[in-house]
Amino acid sequence: MIKRIAIFASGRGSNAEALVMAMRAGEIHGTPVVILSDQAGALVLEKAQQWKIPTLLVERSDYKTKEAFEEAMLDALKPYMPDTIVLAGYMRLLGKTFISAYEGRILNIHPALLPSFTGLHAQRQAVEAGVKVSGCTVHFVDTGMDSGPIIMQTAVPVYADDTEDSLAERILPKEHATYKKALALYCDNKLHVNGHIVSIDE
Ligand code: GAR
Repeated sequence: MIKRIAIFASGRGSNAEALVMAMRAGEIHGTPVVILSDQAGALVLEKAQQWKIPTLLVERSDYKTKEAFEEAMLDALKPYMPDTIVLAGYMRLLGKTFISAYEGRILNIHPALLPSFTGLHAQRQAVEAGVKVSGCTVHFVDTGMDSGPIIMQTAVPVYADDTEDSLAERILPKEHATYKKALALYCDNKLHVNGHIVSIDE
């Protein structure tokens, strides 16, 4: 069964683009049913129009509480009947209200080797810490900050003269490739979660 994927993104949408193109090329057995953003000016919303994928804008400032905001996201998504949520540069921490509706069915990409450098500016944190290796992580989302079970990681070197931008540029193509592989496995039901450990069928 082809999975119905809702992509959440707050910005330029290069990960969203990599995933949409891979789904359209048949490399991932999923179909992008809607793209949701929390940012009215997000480039990803313009891209979605070009890709002819419906969009949703759900802004936090329109709701009094985080719970009401997340209920609104759930309501807005309903007509599209997504079975999986793929976070692709969605810069908000999802809470219990949202996560409990899609338990075990939300994936995220993070631009560091988790559990190191959670949260915002992960590449800057890596450069400042002086690590020699960083990378990206695709993981299932739980209610913590970038703390859910890890699906797949790819490493890149970090050089002494790296900046946040130069490291981000090195990691980004690895994000696209890693996310495509991880989502393809997920859509083929090849990922199994046991506690905090994800195993992958051969
Ligand atoms: C990506 O580097 C992604 O890993 C990161 O935001 C960027 C979005 O780029 N996500 C986070 O930092 C989440 N905490 P994109 O819009 O071009 O995909």
